[in-house]
Amino acid sequence: MDKSERQPVEIVIYNAAELVTVSHRGPGPKRGAQMDELGIIPQGALAIRQGRITAVGPSEEIMGHLETSSDTLVINASQKVVLPGFVDPHTHLVFAGSREDEFARRIAGEDYQQILAAGGGILNTMRATRTAEPQELARLAWHRLNTMLLHGTTTAEAKSGYGLNTADEIKSLEVIRQLAQHHPITLVPTFLGAHAVPPEFHGAPDAYIDHLIMETLPAVVAGGLAVYCDVFCEQGVFNVDQSRRLLAAAKASGLGVRIHADEFASIGATPLAVEMGAASADHLTALTEEDARLLATSDVVATLLPGTSFTLRHAYAPARRLIAEGVAVALATDLNPGTYMSESMSLVIALACVGMQLTPAQAIVASTLNAACALEQGDKIGGLQPGKMADIIILNIPNHKHLPYHLGINQVDTVIKAGRVVVQNSRLAPDLERPPQLFV
Ligand code: NIG
Ligand code: FE
Repeated sequence: MDKSERQPVEIVIYNAAELVTVSHRGPGPKRGAQMDELGIIPQGALAIRQGRITAVGPSEEIMGHLETSSDTLVINASQKVVLPGFVDPHTHLVFAGSREDEFARRIAGEDYQQILAAGGGILNTMRATRTAEPQELARLAWHRLNTMLLHGTTTAEAKSGYGLNTADEIKSLEVIRQLAQHHPITLVPTFLGAHAVPPEFHGAPDAYIDHLIMETLPAVVAGGLAVYCDVFCEQGVFNVDQSRRLLAAAKASGLGVRIHADEFASIGATPLAVEMGAASADHLTALTEEDARLLATSDVVATLLPGTSFTLRHAYAPARRLIAEGVAVALATDLNPGTYMSESMSLVIALACVGMQLTPAQAIVASTLNAACALEQGDKIGGLQPGKMADIIILNIPNHKHLPYHLGINQVDTVIKAGRVVVQNSRLAPDLERPPQLFV
C-alpha cells in the first residue's frame, strides 16, 4: 500500500440506487453485446482521492473500509443514479453569431447544402467568427461550456473551422487553449480548417487544401494547438483525394485524424477513415452496408450525431446495424450554430434511443466509455473504476432508463470533475459563472 492510500478519502458517494460503472475488462471501446453491459452496482458507493477514483462497490462493503476525516465530503446518493461524466467527442464549440433564420428557412423547406452553396451556412458563421475578438469568442464559448457542465459533460472535443484562414483558425484554437486552461471541462482541440472552402478560394478547393498544408497546418503544429485534424469530406465540399492529402500531411506532423464522413452522400470518406487509421468517423448517416462491415474490421470509432439528423429532418445513422457488425459506436452533440444548437448529451441519448433504436444502456456506453475511446482516452475516463479520473455525475432519477425516458429536462444534480464538485443542487460553482479575464 503506498502512502497516499492511507490518507483519508476526499469524497465518498454512497447509497446510489444505481452506480453505473460502465466497467470494461479489455482496453478500448465496448462492441456488440458488451454495449448492453453497464456494470450496475445497486446501492453502490465510490471513493475519491487526489482527483481519482480509489474504490467502487456495494455501499456496505465500501463504507466499512474507508479512511475518512472531518474534511471528507460524504454524499448520500439515495434514490439517485451515479454515472461517469459524459464525454462529448464532436463539438464546434468556438463561434460567433447564430443562425436561427436559417433554421426557420430549413423548416420551411430550404436545403442545408443549398444554403451553404449560396454563401450562407458555415460561411455565414465564418464571417461572424472572423470579425469577433478572441475575448468575445472565449466569453461565448465559456457560457456554452458552463451549460455543458450543468448537463453533465466533463470532457469534450472542440473544433476550429469557422476561421478558414490562418489567422482566424489560429485565433479559434488559441481560444480553445485558453478555455482548456481555465474551465474545468477537459478540452481536446481539433483543427478543422477544411470545414468549407472560404470565399478567397471559391471554386478552388485544391488550392485551399494546398494553402492549408503549406501555411495553416504548420502554424497550428508549431503552436502545439491541436491534437487532431478533421475534414468535411463530402459531396460539394472536399473530395476524398483532397481530404487524403490534408490528413496525410497532418499525420506526418504528428496529429491524429478524424473525419466528417457520409453525412449527406457516400463518397468514400469512411474507407478513407479506415485507411488513415482515424480515431473516429463522424455522422455516417449515408453509410453503405459494405462500409459498415469495413468499419468493423478497424479501430475507427463510429461517432453518431442523432441531434443533427433530428434538426435537419434527415435519416439517422444505422446504429443498430453498426453495433451488430461489431463497430464501436459513440455519440456526440455536434454542437454548432447550423445543424444542432444544443449542449445537452442527455437529449442526444434520448434521440439515439428514439431515433436510432439504441437501448438506454447502449446509448449510455456510447456517451461515456466509447466516447472517451473516440478521443483515445478510454484508459483514463468514461468509467467508474479505480484509477480512472474522478469525473462523475449524480442524476435525480431512480434508474438509468429514466435518462432517455424523461427527456428534454436536466436531471443532473451534481457534477464532480477530477475530484472537485463543480455543480451542486443543479447549480454551478459560483466562481465559474463569469469567465475569467482571458487574453490580457
Ligand atoms: O457537423 N457538417 C459540417 N459541419 C457541421 C455543421 C456546421 C455548420 O453548419 O455550421 C456538422 O453538422
Ligand atoms: Fe460537425
